[in-house]
Amino acid sequence: MSETYILGIESSCDETAAAVVRSGEEIVGNVVASQIKTHSPYGGVVPELASREHLRNIVPVVRGSLQQSGKTLNDIDAFAVTRGPGLAGALLVGISYAKTLAWTLGKPLIAVNHLEGHIHAVLLEARQLPDFELRFPVLSLVVSGGHTHLYLAEKIGTTWRYQNVGHTRDDAAGEAYDKVAKLVGLGYPGGPIIDALAKFGDAAAIKFPFAQLKHRDRKDHGKPEPEQPQFDFSYSGIKTAVLRCVEVEGMLPKVEARRQALLRLDKPTIEDYRAACDQKTLNLIASFQRAIVDDLVSKTLLAAESYGVATLLITGGVAANSELRATFERRAAEEGVQVLFPSRPLSTDNAAMIAAAAYPKFLARDFAGLDLSAEASLQLR
Ligand code: KG4
Ligand code: ZN
Repeated sequence: MSETYILGIESSCDETAAAVVRSGEEIVGNVVASQIKTHSPYGGVVPELASREHLRNIVPVVRGSLQQSGKTLNDIDAFAVTRGPGLAGALLVGISYAKTLAWTLGKPLIAVNHLEGHIHAVLLEARQLPDFELRFPVLSLVVSGGHTHLYLAEKIGTTWRYQNVGHTRDDAAGEAYDKVAKLVGLGYPGGPIIDALAKFGDAAAIKFPFAQLKHRDRKDHGKPEPEQPQFDFSYSGIKTAVLRCVEVEGMLPKVEARRQALLRLDKPTIEDYRAACDQKTLNLIASFQRAIVDDLVSKTLLAAESYGVATLLITGGVAANSELRATFERRAAEEGVQVLFPSRPLSTDNAAMIAAAAYPKFLARDFAGLDLSAEASLQLR
């Protein structure tokens, strides 16, 4: 079959991104405009500001991805866009632009679930490995600022199907990283900062225990009992435990001083963050990270064992975490399970993953109509 070029657009949260991917396997253009500077004074994403920034960035980002690829709009075979889940106002910016391009150029429009995009970020890069063959059953952990979800993924012909076998009952793991960073006076997003600082602290200083969640999710009461075992997560408790620790240990004045000092810096480096932290804070951060990583890895491996999984795909912003990667690699090897991650730039939000996830849909002619709209709570199936 001839080559297919799909232009993907992603605007579900705080990155405006566009990418051109050839036949679901080679990234030929990839641009991400981050809004970190806009949201960091607030310690989290402000939806109205996100929509405004997407509007400002969408045209240059699409143009930039085309320029990198050496293609023109006329060379593009289909336009793919994130339909959800995400912030409705933010999603609508990408969707409206993708619809306009598809309509004016008379090319197909493809709607992609953001979570499926994260899963395909791993597959896109794995296809470039020599002699790569995906072994099924496949279990994917999508772990980001909005999700901590486990999906069994199967391929029927060219079509992918997903079954959710676990989710967070409250906060996502990335959300816990961001909230804890805020609680100790560090910036936004917290994940990369905590990742870099944790190695300077004693991870054994504080024990944060996690319980196995045996009872059913309250939200699922009234629904039929799931036919298959579920492996759920919960990360709001650890955030409260960190808050208690900050209060009981009398750390609040130092937290406020740190926050003010870092706000005065235009682009703080890791050295700046480290210099702003005392040993107690570094130990707290390291212990928090160890607890989160151990919980994510153990529950995922438990699920993998229960479903006889051959391959684990670990993806989403938190999959960029160095301790999470190292721990998964070590423990999965002990269990004889293959584990794959995206490269760090493809772990966080990007549009190459959207264009890659759209390719099987292009082959199946699974196109969206011009009535496509944003679905803030879109489920992955
Ligand atoms: O996938 P993503 O870019 O956006 C969502 O779909 O949510 O993930 C963003 C999340 C943020 O919570 C951020 O703190 C976290 O990923 N993150 C990390 C790291 N890099 C990003 N968490 C831990 N370690 C990292 N290195
Ligand atoms: Zn994401």
